[in-house]
Amino acid sequence: VIAGNWKMNHGPRAAGAYVGSFLPLLGGVRSQVLLFPPALSLPAARAALGEDRGSLALGIQQIHDHPSGAFTGELSAEMAVEAGATYALVGHSERRALFRESDAEVALRFRAALRAGLQPVLCVGETLEERQGGGVEEVLGRQLDAVLGPRSSPSAEFLPPFLVAYEPVWAIGTGVHAEPEDAEAAHAFLRARIALRLGDTRSAEVPILYGGSVTPENAQALLAREGVDGLLVGGASLNPVSFAEIVRIAG
Ligand code: 13P
Repeated sequence: VIAGNWKMNHGPRAAGAYVGSFLPLLGGVRSQVLLFPPALSLPAARAALGEDRGSLALGIQQIHDHPSGAFTGELSAEMAVEAGATYALVGHSERRALFRESDAEVALRFRAALRAGLQPVLCVGETLEERQGGGVEEVLGRQLDAVLGPRSSPSAEFLPPFLVAYEPVWAIGTGVHAEPEDAEAAHAFLRARIALRLGDTRSAEVPILYGGSVTPENAQALLAREGVDGLLVGGASLNPVSFAEIVRIAG
């Protein structure tokens, strides 16, 4: 799974043009490719996709947990589905840090995505301070448990399809990506923690993506690591040519 998070970039016009030039670059690609445009650009991106969507799907970057109501400025998972989304980012570190989103809110949004039939991509990751203090597993465990629950009591509500993205905060937009072996260790921890909750078989169905300063230059080394099932790309997904290059590296 190779996902591009455009963040607050590419309005409707640019999104339509992007998809128009990106699609022809995907010939022969076997990976599932996801684009997360700004919500306002979803309809334009969907229109540019047409009926022949192939391996390309759309997602929304952020949802509220209610289906509708008096929440000025917010968007629901149900609306995202109507606008063409099949995936939703949940708990991106920019939401957690800049908009003070709590673990509890992230958990509600994760459930809201599943309720509406969207596949949530749960983003987790530690800050530099937390890494330097040896707290990586504590942070990842806390962020995951807040959503999936700490104990083994599988409930239909939490069964896949969903995805997890390991995005160390210090690697996002900094040009400093995680060392592939550090990414591998974090992914192994996450996989084991998901298995505690869902069991080994179900856990194996959850793709775990790496995100943070992914480029065409480092994508291969990251994808080569055990347990790295895909990538969540920010800056390098803004240009269809460089993003297609990453997609082609994944195969
Ligand atoms: P960059 O690839 O720009 O570091 O962003 C990563 C990210 O936050 C994707 O969600």
